[in-house]
Amino acid sequence: MSLLFDDILKREFLVAWQRHDETPELDRIAESPTTLSKDGYEIPQNAQVSLRYARFVYQLVKLLQPVQILEIGMANGISSAFIAKARRSYARRGEAQSHVIIDPFQSTEWKGAGRALLRRLNLEFGVEILEECSCVAVPLLERKGCLFDFVFIDGNHCMDYTLTDVLMTDRVLRIGGIIAVDDSTDFGVKMAVPYLDKYRGNLTRIRFDGLFSHWLRERFNKRRRVTVYQKNSMDQRGADGI
Ligand SMILES: C[S@@+](CC[C@H](N)C(=O)[O-])C[C@H]1O[C@@H](n2cnc3c(N)ncnc32)[C@H](O)[C@@H]1O
Repeated sequence: MSLLFDDILKREFLVAWQRHDETPELDRIAESPTTLSKDGYEIPQNAQVSLRYARFVYQLVKLLQPVQILEIGMANGISSAFIAKARRSYARRGEAQSHVIIDPFQSTEWKGAGRALLRRLNLEFGVEILEECSCVAVPLLERKGCLFDFVFIDGNHCMDYTLTDVLMTDRVLRIGGIIAVDDSTDFGVKMAVPYLDKYRGNLTRIRFDGLFSHWLRERFNKRRRVTVYQKNSMDQRGADGI
C-alpha cells in the first residue's frame, strides 16, 4: 500500500476531495442531528467527524486502498461508515479486508448506534468491533500479531490518550502505512501534534497544502481537522530513548 505522497499525488487527492460527490446518502446521515440506536432510539450526533473530514478520510482510504484498517472511536459510526464505504470501492474478490474498530462505550453511551448504522447500510463486511479502551485493545492486537495499513484515531482527545494511541498504533502499523488523527484543533490533540512532528522521526507528517485555496481554507478553519502521518521506518529509539 506504500504510496509516496509527492506533490502530484497530493494534488490529485485534493482535487478528488474538493469534487467529492460519491456519498450522498452518508452525507445526509452525517449532517443529521441524530442517528438510531440498535433498538431504534434516536441518539444525538454531537461528536462525529465533520462532514468535510469524513469525505477527506473517505478519499484517503479510496486512494491508498488499505487492506487492514484500524479505527479508534466509533460513537454513531459516521467515520466508520465513510471508511467502510470507501473500502467497498476497491474490495477484491477473495481478499481478506479487515476493519477493526475500538470503542469501549459503543454499547453503553452510544447504545449500539455505530454498529446499527453499519448494519443498516449493509457495510458490516469485514468489520470487528472491540468494546475495550484503546490502551487495552491495541496491545492485545499487537500480541496477536495483527498489522494494519491505515489507522484512524478519533477516540479520547486528551493529550495523553492521543500520544498513547499514536505510540501504540505505530507498533501495529506496516512501514508505509498511515496514521490519521482527527480533531487536530482540540486542545489535547493540538498539543500532541507538534510533539509528534518534532520527536517522532519515524512518522512523516503529510501536509495537504499544495493548493492555495486549500491552504487558505485550512488556515482559517477553526473547526475539526485531520492530521496525517506516514510511517517511514520502525521506531528505533533505544534504551536511552534517543
Ligand atoms: C469523537 S467520538 C468518535 C466519532 C466517530 N469517529 C464518528 O465520526 O462518528 C470519540 C469516541 O471515542 C470513544 N472513546 C473514548 N475513550 C476511548 C478510549 N479510551 N478508547 C477508544 N475509544 C474511546 C468515545 O466513546 C467516542 O465514541
